[in-house]
Amino acid sequence: MSRPDAASLLSPSPPPFKPHRRGRLLPSILAVLAAAAALFLLAVLRSPPTPSPNLGSLFLSLGSNNTAASHLRALTLHPHVAGTKANSLTAAYVLHAFSSLSIPSHITPYSVLLSYPVHRSLSLSAGPGRAAKSFSLTQDTYPSDPYARAAAEVTPTFFAYSASGSVSAEAVYANYGREEDFAYLSSRGVDVAGRVALARYGRIHCEDIVHNARAAGAAAALVYPDPLEYGGSAGEGSFPDSRWLPPSGVQVGSLFRGVGDPTTPMWASSEGCERVSVEDAMATDDMPGIPALPVSARDAAEIQQVLGGAEAPADWQGRDGSPVYRLGPGPAVLNLTYQGNDTMATIENVFAVIEGAEEPDRYVILGNHRDAWTFGAADPNSGTAAMIELAQRFSMLQKQGWRPRRTIIFCSWDAEEYGLTGSTEWVEENREMLSTRAVAYLNIDVSVVGPVLLPSTTPQLDELLLETIKLVQDPDNSSQTVYDSWVKANASPKIQRLGNGGSDYAAFVQHVGIPSTNLIFGEGPGYPVYHSLYDDFVWVEKFADPGFRRHVLLASGELWL
Ligand SMILES: *[C@@H]1O[C@H](CO)[C@@H](O)[C@H](O)[C@H]1NC(C)=O
Ligand SMILES: *[C@@H]1O[C@H](CO)[C@@H](O)[C@H](O)[C@H]1NC(C)=O
Ligand SMILES: *[C@@H]1O[C@H](CO)[C@@H](O)[C@H](O)[C@H]1NC(C)=O
Ligand SMILES: *[C@@H]1O[C@H](CO)[C@@H](O)[C@H](O)[C@H]1NC(C)=O
Repeated sequence: MSRPDAASLLSPSPPPFKPHRRGRLLPSILAVLAAAAALFLLAVLRSPPTPSPNLGSLFLSLGSNNTAASHLRALTLHPHVAGTKANSLTAAYVLHAFSSLSIPSHITPYSVLLSYPVHRSLSLSAGPGRAAKSFSLTQDTYPSDPYARAAAEVTPTFFAYSASGSVSAEAVYANYGREEDFAYLSSRGVDVAGRVALARYGRIHCEDIVHNARAAGAAAALVYPDPLEYGGSAGEGSFPDSRWLPPSGVQVGSLFRGVGDPTTPMWASSEGCERVSVEDAMATDDMPGIPALPVSARDAAEIQQVLGGAEAPADWQGRDGSPVYRLGPGPAVLNLTYQGNDTMATIENVFAVIEGAEEPDRYVILGNHRDAWTFGAADPNSGTAAMIELAQRFSMLQKQGWRPRRTIIFCSWDAEEYGLTGSTEWVEENREMLSTRAVAYLNIDVSVVGPVLLPSTTPQLDELLLETIKLVQDPDNSSQTVYDSWVKANASPKIQRLGNGGSDYAAFVQHVGIPSTNLIFGEGPGYPVYHSLYDDFVWVEKFADPGFRRHVLLASGELWL
């Protein structure tokens, strides 16, 4: 996931959310981890490193695409939303993986406010009193789907922290749900007040779409992934035949605009701590305050077919060949009912620590979240699998007498999807220790959604990053480095600033000011099956990193050992 930050310290004018461009989503999940590992090593060892052929070739020989693949498969057998038994099992898996490498590891739990669906329904009619069509609100499996059975365990599609309630009102089409889209509707005399706003993903995050809808007076909101951004071109088909989102695909998300546990804003959810009541936490302006649901492109298309009113402008339309979108309001009437359970639940961060030899009280921290809306193969367990693989290599090097200069802390965060919750609570609890001891925080979340490195850093790490990617071989072309392909792909290559939304680096950067990085290979911040049922092992194996071969890139870490 990625979400807007509350207060960016480092990015006064954040780069805009880029739409996905069609046809270039060529994921290579583990390549980024190569770069991350490289960065990590450089940061740990402080460049320039002294080559040591023995350890170097050992590190090289340890590269195995199969290890990361088998961790990924094990972690993604079942959907594992934060706070559930299934996600607790993934914590146990990661803990066991670290401890079986003889790396001291432990779990730190927190009790935090999470949110689950209890009841949802949505129906559409062509006007008051007309027959209504009820939507199933389910994502289709396919005939040979090895995860069809596990799909039954997936949490029904919902928006975390949505208000509960029932709304029956005319629909209005609100494009990307940005402030300017609602301003445009107003300028066309289309009143959103009391109505159900139908908006599409592609420019801003769901929590901002719903916030804007509410600000415009909407009584409820629906958000869907339009085939323009998520469906490829009409002939390309969808998963499992191609990487694109199937028509029934739904993008789940959290509507909380803050970070961390909503009952402990800016302080840690430690045992027995003071808390805001759940009712008060749910009543703040960071919460959506209206009922909202994510829906599929297929359901949205049915709604659009019944919408009347003026034709929407060209840049509000769908992909070539799709029916004309109209603004409404009505005559389409939507009846949306949502009942959620906003409840305290236990989350678990897993830590593993390799003590440094020379500066044991200086920490280089590598983090990746573990919880997922569904199976979480790309988001985030490709990162988890590689983190374990990396720990395994370090462990083997340790057996050869190697020790890092500084202490390395591996973190497997929980409840990132709800609001960066696990990492934020930990940073809040350890703020002083981190501000004096942390050297850098290296984050991985969604690792790879395309062919080009999209690095984000705080400024202190720019140089290190550039030096690093000059040493890493491009997974798609062995005659060039990642740096070369990055330069080629960008007219004016520029490292983005962290701070425009986030992942688990947010608390490190924004609360404590620790130099941080976040690495993604891609072209934009999303990928077609993001937060849907289809982010599973098959998708990663087929479309993200076939053969898991790019992970062997990690071997280029030889250079720094
Ligand atoms: C809306 O749907 C709910 C739940 O299915 C139902 O109880 C209610 O009567 C419906 N409201 C209208 C106005 O149709
Ligand atoms: C909400 O969750 C709590 C804790 O898991 C559970 O005890 C309660 O029964 C749930 N409420 C509903 C309405 O599902
Ligand atoms: C691979 O990289 C080399 C060196 O930059 C370049 O000349 C060549 O065109 C690239 N090949 C492909 C297929 O992009
Ligand atoms: C690892 O690479 C080998 C050799 O390229 C390949 O045969 C194998 O299928 C790969 N493993 C996975 C899990 O993709």
